[in-house]
Amino acid sequence: MVNIAVLGFGVVGSGVAEVIAMNEKQLAAHLGEPIRVKKILDIRDFENNPFSELMTKNADDVFLDPEISVVAETIGGAQIAYEFTKRALSAGKSVVTSNKELVAKHGVELMQLALSNHCTYLFEASVGGGIPIIRPLHRCLAANRISKVAGIINGTTNYILTQMSEIGTDFADALREAQQKGYAEQNPTADIEGHDARRKIAILASIILNGAYVDNTVIHTEGISSVTQEDIAYAKRLDSKIKLLAIFRHPEKARNSAIVAPHIISRQDPLSVADGVFNAIAVRGNAIGDVMFYGQGAGKMATASAVVGDILDAALHHDRSAHITPWYNAEEPVLYDHSDSFVKALIRVKPSVTDRRIESVFPGVLYERVDGVVDGEVGFILGTDRSMNEKTLLSGTAELGDLFISRIRIY
Ligand code: HSE
Repeated sequence: MVNIAVLGFGVVGSGVAEVIAMNEKQLAAHLGEPIRVKKILDIRDFENNPFSELMTKNADDVFLDPEISVVAETIGGAQIAYEFTKRALSAGKSVVTSNKELVAKHGVELMQLALSNHCTYLFEASVGGGIPIIRPLHRCLAANRISKVAGIINGTTNYILTQMSEIGTDFADALREAQQKGYAEQNPTADIEGHDARRKIAILASIILNGAYVDNTVIHTEGISSVTQEDIAYAKRLDSKIKLLAIFRHPEKARNSAIVAPHIISRQDPLSVADGVFNAIAVRGNAIGDVMFYGQGAGKMATASAVVGDILDAALHHDRSAHITPWYNAEEPVLYDHSDSFVKALIRVKPSVTDRRIESVFPGVLYERVDGVVDGEVGFILGTDRSMNEKTLLSGTAELGDLFISRIRIY
């Protein structure tokens, strides 16, 4: 019998208990022995809870129980979840989690702790919700040198942008819907301002760099709060959509870079098919070429699917050290200033801006004019053929002063 505990009975934690109950026979067949949730730790009381006899408010019921070998941490955040994760790993209990904030912040320490206690710390659900991406990157694509990963990896913002674009819902209503559906973080600022996506891309980047830790806080990040219906109208004119993209570039002969920001993306690009809560992650490897992962990036049962997959993996590798390459703090910086990165962007400006003005403030930058979608303005697409970097985009738009309205990057 494999005994597990669930820490935190929120959206994902309750999903974990339900998936295990729903697929009990299938899981036992996979493991070769039955599996059960022995304890669920939460300080709250829940009405009409089918798992009420498993609930405890006493952490010792989990951490001092030698029968419990795997702990699913679905509390979220980096405070109590951090303490509990360390306590579980120190006791030799494997921990699986959907907690991207904790992995992104303390991944190095927690993986090393798991290693020294002969247990595992797994986090498949931390990126892409139910989509398998951590294990495929780490294992199935291990034969490749990965040069790029680009993804729509925040379900809440993708849901909001899709509702704004397809239905014309306003931002606040779309956010409320995402919260009701259980997609958003407790504090949705983390979603809207791109912090959730940047934690996730940092996790993927650390795996691609074979464990060299990428600190998410240094990644240039812009959220979706400034995206307007006018931007969406331009995207439609260009047969494109607006998506919050998280991109990590790992070119062979140039520096690593990462960014999280809203981008215009062509409808012809496979990534753009991910609408609503769906996520899509495109990976480029030097043997496989391009491969894409697609599925539900948030939500109770989809995320629980990934957590339970990790529970099985941890149970099958009981008493062995981590099988994700443990992360470490590299001596050299692993990410470089994004201002040197090439960028293509649409800028919206007042109609008095002439081609000559564009050429003078963006010297050497290739561009084309886009008919204004909105009265009283025109658009320019700047930086085709890798002719502009982020620094030039910033300085040129600043130089335009009041004539500049807004800019959005193009993928
Ligand atoms: N708030 C996250 C999202 C949950 O919207 O993608 C899944 O990580």
